[in-house]
Amino acid sequence: MAALFSKVENLVGLDIGSHSVKIIQVRAGDDKPKLLNLGLAPLPKDSFVEGRVAKPELISATVQQLANHLKIKQRSVAVSISGYDVMIKRIELPTMSEEELDTRMHAELGQYIPYNVDEVDVDYQVLDIAKDRPNFMEVLLVAAKKESVSDYNNLLKLSGFDPYVIDVDFFALSNSFEATYGFQDDDSIALLDIGANKSVMNIAAKGAPVFTRGISIGGNQITEAIRDYFKISFEEAESVKLGESSENYPASDLEEIFVSTVRGWVSECGRAITFYYNNYPDNKIGMVYLSGGSCRIPGLDKVFQENLELPVEIYNPISQTLYDPKQFDPAYIDYIGPQMAIALGLALRKTKEK
Ligand SMILES: Nc1ncnc2c1ncn2[C@@H]1O[C@H](COP(=O)(O)OP(=O)(O)OP(=O)(O)O)[C@@H](O)[C@H]1O
Ligand SMILES: [Mg+2]
Repeated sequence: MAALFSKVENLVGLDIGSHSVKIIQVRAGDDKPKLLNLGLAPLPKDSFVEGRVAKPELISATVQQLANHLKIKQRSVAVSISGYDVMIKRIELPTMSEEELDTRMHAELGQYIPYNVDEVDVDYQVLDIAKDRPNFMEVLLVAAKKESVSDYNNLLKLSGFDPYVIDVDFFALSNSFEATYGFQDDDSIALLDIGANKSVMNIAAKGAPVFTRGISIGGNQITEAIRDYFKISFEEAESVKLGESSENYPASDLEEIFVSTVRGWVSECGRAITFYYNNYPDNKIGMVYLSGGSCRIPGLDKVFQENLELPVEIYNPISQTLYDPKQFDPAYIDYIGPQMAIALGLALRKTKEK
């Protein structure tokens, strides 16, 4: 089917987070993708409220400015919705043809999703024959709130872009991994992207994502704790967190805030991993990869490693793209790469679905 769709050259990957907008363009090749363009712009605070688009004009103005600055000509973009408004579920059904599946999903959708069927856009995909049950197949069901999909469509329209595909954070994260580091056949790997408001966890086994979970942890928790502790503004607290203006704040107090918040992150993440092991008792996680802006917290990988008792690494997919060091400073790629993981997965999206 995919061949029927005209393929877009150098699709724009656009990750609109609550903290910043990320744009990336690559040329997909036989080997690693070649980096053509990348950039990031912070969003005004309160652009999103509780995970929902609150200030579409401000967000689209930021997207436009960044795209102009990067001289992006391509108008087709892949964007993702995440967290709160997406549900992903694997179900097992008796093996049947695509037509039969369409009919059945149409009739029975309500029993698989916790939303009113009229409120969601649904996509599904046959994954595989179910293990141990040869007459059953595994189907991946993705349901996204219509309201959220239309928020993003509206944002793109305001920004002068065409939605080529509206993807899901989870898939974008594992896509970027597959195209750069590559899945191994033996151990499972866990990807954890920690943003400002939310985090995305994706565990892949035997070369395919098998488990996804949105976790409500993120860098804003540290900023807010600093704000409340020192009774300063959010903006001041953010720059204290980043070490830009921390001279007047006792290092030991800051350390305490970092440590206690990050401990909470590790235990949330540990709970998800335990859940995974309960479902897949034969699988072993060989590596946890951290990405997203908040993975830059100094020593974060070590805290995760010591407490999860698993090897942990920072995941920088951009360092694994082919890029010209004369065009992109390797030090900048090292710095920015982990924050661009989801945007890269979007830029690599090959087929338009639905
Ligand atoms: N050097 C650093 N140390 C600590 N935190 C950092 C650092 N650099 C960035 N961050 C934090 O990373 C977060 C932004 O990361 P990211 O761009 O991945 O978020 P986002 O995608 O915009 O947000 P979300 O996906 O949660 O809506 C912010 O909370 C920011 O403070
Ligand atoms: Mg994000």
